[in-house]
Amino acid sequence: MGPYILLLWLLLLAKKSTSAKIPAIIVFGDSSVDAGNNNHLPTIARSNFEPYGRDFVGGRPTGRFSNGRIPTDFISEAIGLKSTVPAYLDPSFNISDFAVGVTFASAGTGVIPLWKELEYFKDYQTKLRGYLGDEKANQTIGDAVYIVSIGTNDFLENYYAFPPRRRTQYNVDQYQQLLIRIARNFTVNLYNLGARKISIGGLPPHGLHALRDLVTNLTQELAGVDLVFSNPYYILLQIVKRPSLFGFDVSGVGCCATGMFEMGYACNERNPFTCRDANKYVFWDAFHPTERANQIISDHVVKTALYKFLV
Ligand SMILES: *[C@@H]1O[C@H](CO)[C@@H](O)[C@H](O)[C@H]1NC(C)=O
Ligand SMILES: *[C@@H]1O[C@H](CO)[C@@H](O)[C@H](O)[C@H]1NC(C)=O
Ligand SMILES: *[C@@H]1O[C@H](CO)[C@@H](O)[C@H](O)[C@H]1NC(C)=O
Ligand SMILES: *[C@@H]1O[C@H](CO)[C@@H](O)[C@H](O)[C@H]1NC(C)=O
Repeated sequence: MGPYILLLWLLLLAKKSTSAKIPAIIVFGDSSVDAGNNNHLPTIARSNFEPYGRDFVGGRPTGRFSNGRIPTDFISEAIGLKSTVPAYLDPSFNISDFAVGVTFASAGTGVIPLWKELEYFKDYQTKLRGYLGDEKANQTIGDAVYIVSIGTNDFLENYYAFPPRRRTQYNVDQYQQLLIRIARNFTVNLYNLGARKISIGGLPPHGLHALRDLVTNLTQELAGVDLVFSNPYYILLQIVKRPSLFGFDVSGVGCCATGMFEMGYACNERNPFTCRDANKYVFWDAFHPTERANQIISDHVVKTALYKFLV
C-alpha cells in the first residue's frame, strides 16, 4: 500500500468514525406519511380498518394508507433507525419510541393543518427534553432528519378529485403558488425550532420546479441548513408507465375494491373486488402506492437525495 493510498484510507476511516449517527427521523405532511394520527381525530379521512395494513406486521390496520409500510418507514430503516415510524397521537407509543422516530402527518388537507403539526412538534420537544435532558434533546433535534411531504395527496385529492371551495378560489397556477408559500413558511418555522437536516418533497410535476427553486433559495437564506429536495414523482411515473420493469403486473388501477376511485372508507373488507396479491399492483387504493411500490420509491429517494444526510 503506497503512502498516498494509506493516507486516503486513513482519511476515509476518520470520516466514517466521525460522521454522526442520525438520532431520529421526524415527519410532517399528508396522507402519504401519516401512520395513524387521523385515527384519533374527528375525520372521515381514515384507514384504520381492513383491508388496509393486511401486509403490515401482524396484518394490522394502523392508519397507514397502504397494505403495509409507507415510505417513511422504509426511509427510517435505511438510515439505521427502526423499521416503522409511529404516529404522535397513537397512545400505544410514548416518548421513548418517539425519541428515535415520530410522524405528525395527517391525511387530508386541514385535518391537522401544517401549523398544528408544528404545535405538536413543540409539545414533542418539551417531552423530549423531559425524557433525554436538555442537552441530549437539543442534540437530537439538531441532528435528526426531517422529512416534509407536502402537496402530493392534498393537491391531487383536493384539487383534481373533489370540488371544494379551494377549487373555485384558485386556478392551478395560483394554487401552486399558495402551496409554495406555505412550504416556505413551514420550512422557516421548522428551522427556527432547531431543525437543520430537512428534506422537502411531494407535489405533481408543474409544482416541482418552484419547489426546487424554493430549496435553492432557502439554502442561501438559512445559515447552516442542510436542505434537500426529494422528488418521488418521476420514479413513480416510471413505475406507472412501465410496471413490468419493476416487477408489477398492474399500474392502471389500485388493488383495493375496483381500484378506480376508492380510498378510506370506500376501500373496506366488504368489497369483493379487492385483489389477492398487492405485490402485483403499483397502487393499493386509488391514490396510495402499495408497500412494494413504497419501498422502490423510498430506495430511490434515499439514493438520490437523502444520502447527503448520511455522509
Ligand atoms: C413507554 O412504554 C413502555 C412500554 O410500553 C414502558 O416500559 C416505558 O416505561 C414507557 N416510557 C415512558 C418514558 O413513559
Ligand atoms: C436547548 O435548546 C433550547 C432552545 O433552543 C435552549 O433554550 C437551551 O438553552 C438549550 N439547552 C442546552 C443545555 O443546550
Ligand atoms: C407563517 O408562519 C407563522 C408563524 O411564524 C404563522 O403564524 C402564520 O400563520 C404562517 N402563515 C402561513 C400562510 O402559513
Ligand atoms: C427564488 O429567488 C429568486 C431570486 O430572488 C426569485 O425570483 C424566485 O421567485 C424565488 N423562488 C422561490 C420559489 O422562492
